Amino acid sequence: MPDNRSFASDNNAPVHEAVFQAMLDANQGDVIAYGDDPFTAEAEQKFKEHFGHDVRVFFVFNGTGANVSALSHLTHPWQAIITAETAHIENDECGAPEKFTGCKLHILPAPDGKIRVEQIKPLLHSVGFQHHAQPRVISITQATEMGTVYTPQEISDIARFAHQNNMLLHMDGARIANAAASLNVSLKEMVTDTGVDVLSFGGTKNGILLGEAVVFLKKELAKDFEYVRKQSMQLASKMRYISAQFNALFTDGLWLKNARHANRMAQLLAEKVKEIPRVQITQEVQINGVFAIVPRETIDKLRQKYFFYMWNETRSEVRWMTSFVTTEKDIEDFVEALKEAI
Ligand SMILES: Cc1ncc(COP(=O)(O)O)c(C=O)c1O
Repeated sequence: MPDNRSFASDNNAPVHEAVFQAMLDANQGDVIAYGDDPFTAEAEQKFKEHFGHDVRVFFVFNGTGANVSALSHLTHPWQAIITAETAHIENDECGAPEKFTGCKLHILPAPDGKIRVEQIKPLLHSVGFQHHAQPRVISITQATEMGTVYTPQEISDIARFAHQNNMLLHMDGARIANAAASLNVSLKEMVTDTGVDVLSFGGTKNGILLGEAVVFLKKELAKDFEYVRKQSMQLASKMRYISAQFNALFTDGLWLKNARHANRMAQLLAEKVKEIPRVQITQEVQINGVFAIVPRETIDKLRQKYFFYMWNETRSEVRWMTSFVTTEKDIEDFVEALKEAI
């Protein structure tokens, strides 16, 4: 096993030891399966503390499952989902959103990963026209796939527009903790109070082993979702082990500590990289990712030592991700290797 960090993805990071410990602690005796257990009740309570007492929470296996089951619950196959060209649901879910919802995805240009109300407005021309898929859900990612964040104001602008036009707002929160840490706002301020309808709450990039939560911010929207979850193959019989992980994440603010640390490491990396000639940072560094244009031959050399992804082959742009386990020494070593490769 190489002992250096990969900088490829926060998915590559290990599981936080408190999370493993919580799973071990939950590993005592029998409890009722499929979520009717004390660990799940505790986790649901913790979500309510963070998002408000009216929310309904459903644990699922992974992020794709959360997005796809939530979106299929909210739509009919003749409707459309509006999202960014950079969205995970568009690029990294193997067409599962289209397959399981049957909906058309309307993809909007998003150089910084964000979409704006002005871009969505023209799509309303199809409303009420039987030849066109009917816009029903706007799906945004917070933080975005480009390492940027929507401000609460930007989110509430989109939510208001959605609701005025008979649409709903879904948020893919695979990196929701990093976004909250970056904005220095509570989850409630960022999600519930801005008018988001349904959230896919991610934890695997922030220290858990597996599991995600579909959070309905308006409880009436959750009606019958338990059947959709089961039919989407996202109902865990041993649910206590998923719930226990979220309990660990929400104990002593671990979720926020991990996210703040990962974000800070990306800031440090960006500061150091900025001083290196021929490397150009392409996105504002707001969470735990740094996007940069780097000479092609440098990338090849550096990748002999560190694994990371080419983001855009044509632009010779890479993505470097940090995580809750990245250390300052990891950054220093990586920057040294980068300088050498240049
Ligand atoms: C923005 C975003 N959404 C969702 C996911 C969830 O993916 P998975 O199905 O691998 O848990 C990811 C993981 O990379 C992601 O980056």
